[in-house]
Amino acid sequence: MDNHQLPKPALEDLLEEARQAALNSYSPYSGFRVGAALRLTNGETVSGTNVENVSYGLTLCAERSALVQAVSRFGPEIRIEAVAVANLNQAPSPPCGACRQVLAEFAQYDAPVIFPSVDGVRVMAFHELLPMAFEMKQ
Ligand code: THU
Repeated sequence: MDNHQLPKPALEDLLEEARQAALNSYSPYSGFRVGAALRLTNGETVSGTNVENVSYGLTLCAERSALVQAVSRFGPEIRIEAVAVANLNQAPSPPCGACRQVLAEFAQYDAPVIFPSVDGVRVMAFHELLPMAFEMKQ
């Protein structure tokens, strides 16, 4: 998939922001340090990291952490035009299913998502990662 809205250097910059965010990971249980960075259509970028909890199921992924921060800082009208995910464990880490659904609320259909995959860093359009996202037409 190579028809992306952002040029590759901009995506690489976003990936570097995600890596920086991963340095702040609170992951004493898994040791898996993840960072996510979102580029918004207002020109801003926002990043977040995973925050684990001793009650494991309460763990917040990096992608949702970044999204909550983006809405908190810039309000409910934000739109996501690109997503980057990185980890410091040299492992694949595409966004989990829950994060895909949560990001779908604000992500542009064609937004590129750059992430470490089994065969290196990969870029896919958001709609390829989550076809048929749940939505309610009101
Ligand atoms: N994690 C993320 O931050 N994003 C994902 O998309 C998948 C998993 C985190 C949650 C947990 O802290 C650790 O990675 C291991 O699952």
